[in-house]
Amino acid sequence: MAHDLVDQLDAMTKAKGYANRSQAIADMVRDQLVEHHGHLGAHPMAGTVTLVYDHHKRNIQGLLTDIQHDYGALIIATMHVHLDHHNCMEVLALRGRAGALKEVADRLIAAKGVKHGKLTVTTTGKDFAK
Ligand code: NI
Repeated sequence: MAHDLVDQLDAMTKAKGYANRSQAIADMVRDQLVEHHGHLGAHPMAGTVTLVYDHHKRNIQGLLTDIQHDYGALIIATMHVHLDHHNCMEVLALRGRAGALKEVADRLIAAKGVKHGKLTVTTTGKDFAK
């Protein structure tokens, strides 16, 4: 690696609190592997979907519930938070094939009335020995 890259890596390693450079690099590699696995439709993954919506919008909660029932086997937990008088935040924990997680997330995020939604895909843990 070029000296300037090594210097920047060491600065980041310190700023993030890693014990050493190789631990920082290992986490970067795992992060890239998780991203790669997320693009392999059949790969088993875990993930979360976060949704924010106004529960006063007509039928939004019924619509989101209908979609969740279509993918009941993938959804292992949900949490609903009343953010304020209007806004709700819903967090769904998912486990299944990467392509299926993307499919349910796309449907929920595209539902009329959802203000913002985001899928985060992570490892089931079985891919890494750490
Ligand atoms: Ni609510």
